[in-house]
Amino acid sequence: MQTRKLGQTDVELTVIGLGTWAIGGPWQFGWGPQDDAESVRTIHAAVDAGINWIDTAPIYGCGHSEEVVGQALKQMRQKPLVATKCGLLWNDKREKINCLDHDSIIKECEDSLKRLCVEVIDLYQMHWPQPEEQIEEGWEAMASLVEQGKVRHIGTSNFTVAQLERIAKIHPVASLQPPYSMLRRNIEEKLLPYCGENNIGVVCYSPMQKGLLTGKFTKEHVQTLAPDDHRRGDADFTGNKFEQNLKIINALRPIADRNGKTIAQLAIAWVLQKEEVTAAIVGARKQKQIEETVQAGDWVLSETDIEEIENILSKE
Ligand SMILES: NC(=O)c1ccc[n+]([C@@H]2O[C@H](COP(=O)([O-])OP(=O)(O)OC[C@H]3O[C@@H](n4cnc5c(N)ncnc54)[C@H](OP(=O)(O)O)[C@@H]3O)[C@@H](O)[C@H]2O)c1
Repeated sequence: MQTRKLGQTDVELTVIGLGTWAIGGPWQFGWGPQDDAESVRTIHAAVDAGINWIDTAPIYGCGHSEEVVGQALKQMRQKPLVATKCGLLWNDKREKINCLDHDSIIKECEDSLKRLCVEVIDLYQMHWPQPEEQIEEGWEAMASLVEQGKVRHIGTSNFTVAQLERIAKIHPVASLQPPYSMLRRNIEEKLLPYCGENNIGVVCYSPMQKGLLTGKFTKEHVQTLAPDDHRRGDADFTGNKFEQNLKIINALRPIADRNGKTIAQLAIAWVLQKEEVTAAIVGARKQKQIEETVQAGDWVLSETDIEEIENILSKE
């Protein structure tokens, strides 16, 4: 699979990283029940297929996603790079709490290292820039973890340009992790150009819009989601927005078909054609899913396909 250098670092990432939100299992924004043995098989399959990095976070399943990643890593000789996050704690109802206190981040890092069973975290990302008044305090704590050798590089997630500018004065920003898909293109206007100009790596999340851009969703399919799958309440999966999304997906189908690819592969390859993008973080909860989507990592879309997709997306 193609690799790209992550911003100013010396790290080469495969253009597809494995996302492990869904495999965390239940919490406030969970995806319903998940079988851990299947999750471990999925992680092994991802690495066997050439993926060299995994993205996780403590909040995914309140520690559980990191534990499952740690369990999978223990069984591997050739270990992938690990990216995790900080800044989201949880209460006893498994609801998120934003916290960027210095001491809290230092403790979070220790907990993540234990759960992941690693000695150092390759990329440590501030999950959300909230509470906004604490982003400098949190970033300073993360920079001190680099000095202590607990993490190799520090990055951000869900930041605006103004917020990136604030923290860049304290310590170089290795990466930004923003949402980006054919259905969510907000970053194209300001964030992508800013990251390109400042050599900040961009690792995009939800490239298949949480599974919507696989083409498998219908109204009936949404009804089969577990009662605690947060997508039931996601605006993209309900009402007029959902209908509009299905129209776009149906219009994209012939482009995937004529290339002998799936809509999921088209969605990922489309994200990767942007030059500022380092990699797409592709979520999977089953081995078969990642075996399919990983193939997008070597597909370079033609100019004709890109133009046709642009026409479809700009009509909406
Ligand atoms: N920093 C942040 O704030 C943030 C936010 C969101 C995500 N992320 C990261 O980005 C990663 C990826 O985003 P995401 O998980 O939200 O969404 P995604 O990658 O767009 O979609 C992943 C979901 O699509 C379905 N799927 C995957 N491959 C499929 C296939 N071949 N056929 C059919 N269905 C398939 C699976 O769910 P079902 O089988 O249940 O449909 C899977 O969990 C996350 O895991 C996480 O690491 C970060």
